[in-house]
Amino acid sequence: MCGIVGYIGTQQAAPLLLEGLGRLEHRGYDSAGMAVLGTGGALRVAKRSGRVRDLAEEVPARFGGKVGIGHTRWATHGPATDHNAHPHTDGAGRVAVVHNGILDNASSLRAMLTDDGVELTSDTDTEVLAHLVARSGAETLEGRVADALSAVEGTYGLAVVHADFPDRIVVARNGSPLIVGVGDKEMHVASDLAALVRYTTTVAYLDDGEMATVTAQGFTTYRHDTAQLHRTHRDAARVDVDPAAYEIGEHESFMHAEMLEQPRAAERVLRGRLDERFGTSHLGGLNLDARELRAIRRVKILGCGSAYYVGQMGASMIEELARIPADAEAASEFRYRDPVIEPDTLYVAVSQSGETIDTLLAVQEIRRKGGRVVGLVNVVGSAIARECDGGIYLHAGPEVAVASTKALTTMFLAFSLLALQLGRVRDLSIADGKRLIAGLQQLPEQIQSVLDRDDELAEVAKRLAVSDSLFFIGRVRGFPVAREGAQKFKEITYRHAEAYQTSELKHGPLALISEDVPTVALVPDDELVERNVAALHEIAARRGPLVVVTHEGVDLGDLSAAPGMHRIDVPRNEREIDPILLTIPLQVLAYHAAKHLGLDADKPRNLAKSVTVE
Ligand code: AGP
Repeated sequence: MCGIVGYIGTQQAAPLLLEGLGRLEHRGYDSAGMAVLGTGGALRVAKRSGRVRDLAEEVPARFGGKVGIGHTRWATHGPATDHNAHPHTDGAGRVAVVHNGILDNASSLRAMLTDDGVELTSDTDTEVLAHLVARSGAETLEGRVADALSAVEGTYGLAVVHADFPDRIVVARNGSPLIVGVGDKEMHVASDLAALVRYTTTVAYLDDGEMATVTAQGFTTYRHDTAQLHRTHRDAARVDVDPAAYEIGEHESFMHAEMLEQPRAAERVLRGRLDERFGTSHLGGLNLDARELRAIRRVKILGCGSAYYVGQMGASMIEELARIPADAEAASEFRYRDPVIEPDTLYVAVSQSGETIDTLLAVQEIRRKGGRVVGLVNVVGSAIARECDGGIYLHAGPEVAVASTKALTTMFLAFSLLALQLGRVRDLSIADGKRLIAGLQQLPEQIQSVLDRDDELAEVAKRLAVSDSLFFIGRVRGFPVAREGAQKFKEITYRHAEAYQTSELKHGPLALISEDVPTVALVPDDELVERNVAALHEIAARRGPLVVVTHEGVDLGDLSAAPGMHRIDVPRNEREIDPILLTIPLQVLAYHAAKHLGLDADKPRNLAKSVTVE
């Protein structure tokens, strides 16, 4: 949430900052701003509510200077106004600060500053930092920033420029990512690799409690959470990323591009991890040998939003294949119930970004109590990946659209690999292992065949888009799919979409069914198919329009002729793998419904990619 960029070097900073902000906009798009130090140390600030393109219109040509910092905001303290946009400055306009995260003691610091006669001009927590840096008596900018940080509690990734120190940017990190990028006689800083890769792939990641002085020639790191600044040794290293993976290319949106990439992403997560001979998987990154895997008595999966729903899909798979009790829980709730951490439970944290604060805090809670956590994470080297005892990287590639699609698919496949391995060290037969491997190998092609039906799904989506309220229903393996389908739909169409177990409909929600409330029903050809079809009759009898996601050959009887009925057949695979093939058309429906409504699927209102605040 929120994005930081910074530049110091031989080029004009403003155009580079604007470009970087555009690349970070998915992390927050309420407002944007920048501060540039001109020659002679004049500090110029431009900021406003709205998108980066609105800021670009406001940055005047005279905004010259080769040192600058920028920010794109997702509002926490105070609404999205020009005043609340970052950077924040001190009263004299000599210090500018951009900040991601939340300062927990901001109100007391604001009160202290106001009592001292400081006039605060925003509602934000960040503004106090600019004043604290300005008031510090330290001789160096590093010392001043460290003084300010010693007074604050909370999380931050931040960048500071000061008119008296025009040769440097000082950055710091505590709980919110900060990366330094090394160029040729120039340096970049950013909260996310996406803003850097066009200029450099040689980067250094700061640790929590670390800060850095960044000049045009290089960078120096320190620990600032000690009594005195204490130098640390940190080398920049090349990261193995393809800058083209961050480009939208010919696609109409990132979400569309990312949905279409799913067959390739599925291949990547499986590559080198399937053992056809023994019907199992290789997951060296888990750091668990066969004996340790056998000793696991329970699996507890933690994630947020879509990562939580795919965690539910994963839990069913693990329980079915390995016969170990497994369940998923919202990471955001977990630590608040003071959970019992069991030594023979394997905890699994699931996260695309590896930054989601609720998931990270859950991991820390488990480890603090001596539990063992593995991560299913997409972003290599992210906080959650680093905090876990081991894990499975998803290799989905960068996911920019707020709505998760390809990352979710790779999470599901990573769970399949984990379930396979947990099963094969127990009672899952080699034949069953091989059966599943054959199913997984077919998946990329099968996902492609669903994506190829884009036009048909777009037509169905148009019909759903006109409804203010929808149900998504499923049972057992299909229920988390319904939850994910409803989540995707509401997230990007702003329609009310509610997921229910099909079996629970008549215990209440059936009262809402009418010709204006469509139901998207998941009816795989499994042991519950007849009961599911019976529930569809109950909906049709109340004139509820139906979209049924099912398998070829499933007999829907006279429902096929029901008004408002549409049937979507997905390819058959192994039953355990059904959930992901049922999920794909729901992504496409949500995407086209949003497009039909003229909404920006990549940047849905009120949301942002990577939720780094509680
Ligand atoms: C997915 O479409 C959502 N934008 C959201 O629920 C997301 O999955 C959740 O915030 C978790 O993010 P993470 O995978 O980066 O931890």
